[in-house]
Amino acid sequence: MSTLGNPIKLQSGVTLKNRAIMAPMTNMMSFFDGTITDNELQYYSLRSGEVGAVITAASNVQEIGQGWEGELGVFDDKHIKGLSKLASAIKKSGTKAILQIFHGGRMTNSKILRGKQPVSASAVKAERADAEEPRSLTDEEIIQVIEDFKSATIRAIKAGFDGVELHGANTYLIQQFFSPHSNRREDKWGGNLEKRFHFVNQLVDGVIKTVKENASEPFIVGYRFSPEEYENPGIRIDDTLYLVDQLSNKNLDYLHISLGDYQQYSKFDQTKEQTILQTIHKKIAGRIPLISVGNIRTGSDADNALKDSEMVALGRVLLADPHWTSKVLSNREDQIRHTVTEEERDELHLNTGVWMFMNAMMPERIK
Ligand SMILES: Cc1cc2nc3c(=O)[nH]c(=O)nc-3n(C[C@H](O)[C@H](O)[C@H](O)COP(=O)(O)O)c2cc1C
Repeated sequence: MSTLGNPIKLQSGVTLKNRAIMAPMTNMMSFFDGTITDNELQYYSLRSGEVGAVITAASNVQEIGQGWEGELGVFDDKHIKGLSKLASAIKKSGTKAILQIFHGGRMTNSKILRGKQPVSASAVKAERADAEEPRSLTDEEIIQVIEDFKSATIRAIKAGFDGVELHGANTYLIQQFFSPHSNRREDKWGGNLEKRFHFVNQLVDGVIKTVKENASEPFIVGYRFSPEEYENPGIRIDDTLYLVDQLSNKNLDYLHISLGDYQQYSKFDQTKEQTILQTIHKKIAGRIPLISVGNIRTGSDADNALKDSEMVALGRVLLADPHWTSKVLSNREDQIRHTVTEEERDELHLNTGVWMFMNAMMPERIK
C-alpha cells in the first residue's frame, strides 16, 4: 500500500500533509540583488497546494556567497518583504514553505561577485573548467558565516516560512568544509574527519538554537547532504556515515540526501550490495526522517523510494507537470505531462533561466 499520501509529523511539531516534497530547484528568476520577482512567485504558486512542502531554490546568506545570477537572496533585511510574498504563495492548501539557505563558497567566480575573489575553507580550486582559486576564510570570517546563516534563519521566520533547509550538498560552502578536497586547514576547522565536521556541527547547533530563541511557532530545520564526491581526496560513503550519524542525534526535522537517481550505487563500491539510499537509511535507523530524491517519475518509483526513506523530493517532474502529486494520489498517472513544448512555457512559468537549464541538462523533457 502506498504511503505517499500519508501525513508525517516532524520533531518540531510541524505536520506535512503528505510525503511528496518539491525539491529545491534554482530557477534564476530573482532580480540582480536577490529580491523575488512576480514571475518567480507565480512559478512557485503553480507548484504549491498539492505537495506536503516546497523547498525553495538555494538563497544566499552572504553577498560573497552568491553562486549565480538571478539567485534568491536572504542576506539582507530588504529581502524579507519579497520572501513574505514567497512564503504566502507557497502556503496554500496546507503546503509548508521551506527556504533553502546556502553559501556558494568556491563554486562561483569574480564576475558574479563583481570583482571580488570567491572564498572557501581553503585556497583550493574546484576541479572544473574555468574554476578560480578561492581565498581561505579567516577564523573571524568563518564565525561570521555561521552568524549570517543564523540571521538568514531569523529572516525566514519573520517572512512566515515554516522552516529552513541548510544546503550542505552539491559542492557548496557547507560541503566544502566537510570535504577533504576543499578543506586542507590545520586549525580547529579542518584536519581529520571530526575536525572537518566542526563547521557543520557549529552551524547546525547555532541554527537550531536561533530557532528556539526566535520562533514562536514550530519551525522546521532540515539538512541536505551529498553522499560522495568524485575528487580525490573527496568525501566517501564512510565520511557520510559519520556525518549522518552525528546529525541524526541532533534536533533536526529531517535529513535530505542529494542523488541524481534514488537507486544509484556508490561510485567506488564494486559489490553493489545495496544502494546509497539503503546504506544511509540503515545508518539513520529511524532516528530522524530521511528525504530521498532522484529520478522519481511515477507513483511506483515513489513507493519504491519510500521503502528506504520517509519522504520523497520531486524536482524535474514538477517542472513539467505541477500537478504530478494530485494525479499520482488520485490514480490519474496516465495524465501526467512528462515533456514540455515551447508553447507551454508561459503557462508553466518556466522563464528563460530555467528553460535554458532544461535545454542543456534535460533535453529529454522538451518536445
Ligand atoms: C533546474 C534545477 C535546479 C536545481 N537547483 C538546486 C538547488 O538550488 N538546490 C539543491 O539542493 N538542489 C538543486 N537541484 C537538484 C534537485 O533538488 C534534485 O536533487 C535533482 O533535480 C534530482 O531530482 P529529480 O530527478 O526529481 O529532478 C536542482 C535541479 C534542477 C533540475
